[in-house]
Amino acid sequence: MKSWGLLLVAALAIGSSFGVHKNNFKTCDQSGFCKRLRSFKPEKSQYSLNLDTVIVHGNVLSAEVNTVDTTTQKRIILWHYALRLSALVDGTFRVEIDEADPLYPRYRTQLALNGEPKADGLKIVSNENGIITVANSQGHKVIITAEPLKLEFVNLAGDVAVILNDNAQLMVEPLRVKKERVDDEDTNLVEVEEEGTWGENFKSHHDSKPRGNEAVSLDFSFPEADNVYGIPEHTDKLALRTTTSGDPYRLYNLDVFEYELDSRMAIYGAIPVVYSHGPKRTAGVFWHNSAETWVDVVNYADSTVVSSLVNLVTGGQKRRVDTRFISESGIVDAFVFLGEKPADVFRQYTQLTGSAPIPPKFSLAYHQCRWNYVDEADVRGVDDNLDNYDIPADVIWLDIEYTDRKKYFTWDPIKFPHPSDMVANLTAKGRKLVVIVDPHVKREAGYFLHEDATELGYYVKDKDGKDYEGWCWPGSSSYLDFFDPAVSKYNSERYLFENFPGTSKDVHLWNDMNEPSVFNGPEITMPKDCRHYKPPQDGNDGLAAFWEHRHVHNEYGLWNVRSTHEGMLQRVDNKYRPFILTRSAFSGTQRYGAVWTGDNAAEWGFLAVSVPMCLSLSVAGVSFCGSDVGGFFKYPEPELMTRWYQAGAFQPFFRAHSHIETKRREPWLYEAPTTALLRDANRRRYALIDFWYTLFYEHSVDGLPVMRPLFQEYPHEEDTFTIDDQYLLGDKLLIRPVVQPGVSSVPVYLPGAAQRTLWYDVDSYHAHHAAGYFTQDVTISKIPVYQRGGIIIPRKERIRRSSSLMADDPYTLVVALDVNGTAQGSLYIDDGESYEYRNNKYIYAKFKYESNAMTYSFPNENAHYPTRSWVERIVIAGIKTPPKTAKLHQGDKQLSLQMTLHKGNDVLVVRKPGANMAHPWKITFSY
Ligand code: NOJ
Repeated sequence: MKSWGLLLVAALAIGSSFGVHKNNFKTCDQSGFCKRLRSFKPEKSQYSLNLDTVIVHGNVLSAEVNTVDTTTQKRIILWHYALRLSALVDGTFRVEIDEADPLYPRYRTQLALNGEPKADGLKIVSNENGIITVANSQGHKVIITAEPLKLEFVNLAGDVAVILNDNAQLMVEPLRVKKERVDDEDTNLVEVEEEGTWGENFKSHHDSKPRGNEAVSLDFSFPEADNVYGIPEHTDKLALRTTTSGDPYRLYNLDVFEYELDSRMAIYGAIPVVYSHGPKRTAGVFWHNSAETWVDVVNYADSTVVSSLVNLVTGGQKRRVDTRFISESGIVDAFVFLGEKPADVFRQYTQLTGSAPIPPKFSLAYHQCRWNYVDEADVRGVDDNLDNYDIPADVIWLDIEYTDRKKYFTWDPIKFPHPSDMVANLTAKGRKLVVIVDPHVKREAGYFLHEDATELGYYVKDKDGKDYEGWCWPGSSSYLDFFDPAVSKYNSERYLFENFPGTSKDVHLWNDMNEPSVFNGPEITMPKDCRHYKPPQDGNDGLAAFWEHRHVHNEYGLWNVRSTHEGMLQRVDNKYRPFILTRSAFSGTQRYGAVWTGDNAAEWGFLAVSVPMCLSLSVAGVSFCGSDVGGFFKYPEPELMTRWYQAGAFQPFFRAHSHIETKRREPWLYEAPTTALLRDANRRRYALIDFWYTLFYEHSVDGLPVMRPLFQEYPHEEDTFTIDDQYLLGDKLLIRPVVQPGVSSVPVYLPGAAQRTLWYDVDSYHAHHAAGYFTQDVTISKIPVYQRGGIIIPRKERIRRSSSLMADDPYTLVVALDVNGTAQGSLYIDDGESYEYRNNKYIYAKFKYESNAMTYSFPNENAHYPTRSWVERIVIAGIKTPPKTAKLHQGDKQLSLQMTLHKGNDVLVVRKPGANMAHPWKITFSY
């Protein structure tokens, strides 16, 4: 019998035309707190700071904040709150506002931060007329106006970069005891509780809301900003749009079947960080909250914003963007980044939430996936055909059908009877296997995972405390409660080789459906009143004994991948780096795995949106991002497939994937000319595999996006602020994928005119002078990629079946000269899979080219790696006066080198330098 899930998918695929079922998902008006708080528009904030309570201790200013009823003469205090303002290192501040004495503790997001944020100094600079100014050790300031409460963050230039509560939308709904009617004798106030306070309905689902309303919100203004970015995951533009008409951007991890383009609807990932940028500065805010969140944006320069609003809020200043975060629960906990450049704010965010550690090298190569490779013979056939058709590939993937009827950690005994042999067959060619393990557990008697979880109480509970049951691929399923350390540990141990026979260090993991996806749940996810583990120290009674799913929803998938990560480390005694792919993402996910953009479709629009979607994830910490190459639903005709491989080859995570009911589409199943183009795209990826690896090493150290929006490197060039159909890899390559059918040219914007930047077409070495847009002619084989003048890139030109087989291969170094005739670059080498780099077993080398010499040197003298690779060729593009002689110096060795001049005499090839890359070298030139 087909599973319930498959039937559902089949029914949806056959019974309707392609498109999202919007009515399965809430609009803001259907989400009680969003509607309630969005319509809350006071003229001035009711929140005021009690100046008598201000204390500065260490890096923290704390004070009491009260809400005051201003409708009477008596100024009656309605509620007490505790404000904490902390100064953190690197131009960052944190603002927390919680109830001073909540009925129950309010949820504080647990796993997003990469440890305790590092403290900076904080001192009061002035305190007069109801305004307190504090400064950190660097000199960034915060001006706190007591009444109504407002916080202005001032950068080192003395400009206000971020304002909190300028629009009076601070709100922390106090937790209350349920009463139908509250009569307050002192004040004669009569409160009747709003409808929906203690329960809400959506379609056939009831949410019992045992804690009542507990929403929080705050507005953040960015003076002199042109745009804001971030808050993935959406299918919208990189530069966010004004939301005054329509819904806010929604952040709620959801499995949205056939998600739509150009939308602010929530999909799988939810990362609550926003950045502002304008010619003067960049700033940012990280809204540290894991509950369902909606974000409004008002860009005063947009024609949709009426001038009366512009005048009211900004006094006519159009260069300003306001945002407002509204979350269903938790506390106000916001980190403010003072930049001042884009790279600063991106780093300030990853300082807090972590950057991706160096991935195993194979994971940066090409991945061949499909739902499903149906049995061992199929896997073998795909593996063989990759070789027969000379398509380099590092990984074959197995989707859910490899399991014994959707029971994870088992194999289908008929179709996959010999998993170890299958894996051995792959590893013999340097290839790996990735298998899927979803967080739902089949409720089947006799299935060890279900029996253990039931007996040990490891499942998420429903609102009445019983094991929650929902529907997913296996049919009736329950969900592990990873928030409980015992559950997380139990789950991690399932990955030990003895517990998951057939796996080895070369089998890696895919955690899908971890929003979590529940086919029959409200909005295809878990009911918000489900119960999660809470550490006992906060009390064991009633509502103090558990967290509700509403509090933790957006970090559920993060706890899932953290547990997988832990297990994958344990299974190899912490020796080898794991690779994990996850669909759901939250702040911090990047520490554990890569993220892909879920179930797209073989349509040009989905190919195009893969760029802004990954850019938006990248600036939000997730550099390791990609989209299903070819499109998941539907069948890509040859031109689309070609363009998608070409685009994917230059995106961080490069995996072809397809839906179970689509026609097979491995590269050799197309006509020979298309297969050749797909092969060519893959080969380009492999030629640059060490370049990618170096970028990811650098990301692990500096936390900056691997895939970058142009404005990161050219923050003063206004044209770049909204460009999201092209991007940079590091500060080195500029990529402009072709994402439209039938085109013979594309507009390409080359930034850096003011710096007299040159961009070299990587196919022809033709140097373009940066001057904004130019027209690039394209044929079907053309991928517009440009190397920045001034950059040296290491390539490997001997493409083999998998990246590990290329480890010892020689390098071609491509030196693209800048206008001064100089260039530099970097190269990272290690064993590609272990943690030995932590013991200094790596090379991080710098290249430098000047007219009289090129050097390869190791800034960290303690780090070494015995690579056998050598330099087989150096290509120097843009040379004005070719040298007469070239001589290699390495250790005691000296060698005269041959050179040839090409292409209008401005490309010089130094032939066979032969220098070993394990040691520094130098080539001197004479004229
Ligand atoms: C949903 C995922 O997004 C898709 O990639 C996968 O193939 C199916 N689940 C089946 O596991």
